[in-house]
Amino acid sequence: MFRKMVNLTGQFKHSKMTINLAILLSGRGSNFVALYSAVQRGDLQAKITLVASNSEDAIGLKTAREFGIPTAVFERKRFSQGSDYSDYMFKILAEHNVDAIALAGYLKKIPPVVVRHYRNRILNIHPALLPKFGGKGMYGINVHRAVIESGENETGVTIHFVNEEYDEGKIILQAKAPVYPEDTPEVLAARVLKVEHNTYWRGVQKYIDERNK
Ligand code: GRF
Repeated sequence: MFRKMVNLTGQFKHSKMTINLAILLSGRGSNFVALYSAVQRGDLQAKITLVASNSEDAIGLKTAREFGIPTAVFERKRFSQGSDYSDYMFKILAEHNVDAIALAGYLKKIPPVVVRHYRNRILNIHPALLPKFGGKGMYGINVHRAVIESGENETGVTIHFVNEEYDEGKIILQAKAPVYPEDTPEVLAARVLKVEHNTYWRGVQKYIDERNK
């Protein structure tokens, strides 16, 4: 898959292998916007071909529409059978030629059959240094509260593959952030979020570079 081009000075240069990326989100979608900005800057060699949510009300969906990106809603309750729900996901992902999926604050579990089909092609961002502070219930402000309560003096961000267990897939990239004694969970969350925005695209690009080898 890896292609090299010879430029005018005779040096080898990697050609840009762009992948089609779907973003799944449940809320405000600031990490989606950070990924979108990285694409716009040319730092992330991907095209965001779909933004999907489990909730029609997610602010991130509205933002995606403003950016002119196709959107979809994956709502389990619309389907009586789990298999119909996953078939619908497969259909929408295929319609948008999705090569890889980046979860960006997606609060629903991905059906195992979808995880299997997209094995090592679904990435997630977690606002702590996994394997610490991961697992069921460890999302949002709960993570930062737990970090403070445990007396840690550093925390951070983890970009990892998604497997069938919460927050247990292989780690792609981590970045650190300090924890100060006077931090509240909200203050810490804001500090970590800035690191998230500067890290997710690097993790996705690292994944793309590995794919292209
Ligand atoms: C982020 O903190 C991310 O690490 C976690 O969910 C939050 C989503 O925030 N998985 P946003 O919707 O991207 O602003």
